[in-house]
Amino acid sequence: MSFIEIQNVTKQYHKGEETITPLDDVSLDIVQGEFISLMGASGTGKSTLLNLIASIDKPDSGRIVIDGTEITRLSRTKLANWRAGNLGYIFQTHNLIPVLTAYENIELPLLLLPMSRTERRNRIEIALKAVDLLDRADHYPRQLSGGQEQRVGIARSIVAHPKVVVADEPTGDLDPKTSDQILDLLKRLNEQLNVTLLMVTHDREAAKIADKQFQLDHGKLVQTGGRGFQITEVQEAQTTA
Ligand SMILES: Nc1ncnc2c1ncn2[C@@H]1O[C@H](COP(=O)(O)OP(=O)(O)O)[C@@H](O)[C@H]1O
Ligand SMILES: [Mg+2]
Repeated sequence: MSFIEIQNVTKQYHKGEETITPLDDVSLDIVQGEFISLMGASGTGKSTLLNLIASIDKPDSGRIVIDGTEITRLSRTKLANWRAGNLGYIFQTHNLIPVLTAYENIELPLLLLPMSRTERRNRIEIALKAVDLLDRADHYPRQLSGGQEQRVGIARSIVAHPKVVVADEPTGDLDPKTSDQILDLLKRLNEQLNVTLLMVTHDREAAKIADKQFQLDHGKLVQTGGRGFQITEVQEAQTTA
């Protein structure tokens, strides 16, 4: 059984007279522990899709089931609880709270969960260790490099032990060497924690570290490589033309 089932999801936005359809009857099954990358031109709906999976937004039609819970049917309150326990979100860099230390930034998602201070401390230390930043716990974001900031962001995304982590262009602001380190870290966490990971990226090489590669184009989601990939007749015609 699939861990994440995206079934016939459509999402539209209205801008005055104009209707845009970033997701047009999109379906996708994701297995637990799978690492999926998503590419596509700017404005094609990549963030929209991540936000639907993260239950920050709702589709106009279709359903999304994650680990047996149909998140597209939950009330706002139930969704907030579901998110706190099951989902991690990694943004582009500069998403830490500047007046909080690395430790305090990582602690934030845990404050939404019933948990003792001691248990929080344990979890935060494990997360800091996983991203190799134990010695930076008391540093503020402005005292960290871009790569270190992003590692704090990653620690924050995994500290509540979510089953699903979504990452929206996590290396978008980083130089190539730092990007590679962050990608290695994501791959390692995906493998070691068995967390299901969806990453949006503009970088074709970055996309390749995922188990499966997808692309969004005109509202449609197509697999472009990775496990189980089969080239379609149309794609074959394009490559041989
Ligand atoms: N809340 C919104 N209201 C209106 N239009 C939106 C909203 N969010 C996104 N869009 C539009 O939907 C399209 C897809 O956006 P987005 O998912 O952010 O694209 P991407 O992440 O691929 O760059 C864009 O045309 C964008 O302008
Ligand atoms: Mg985006």
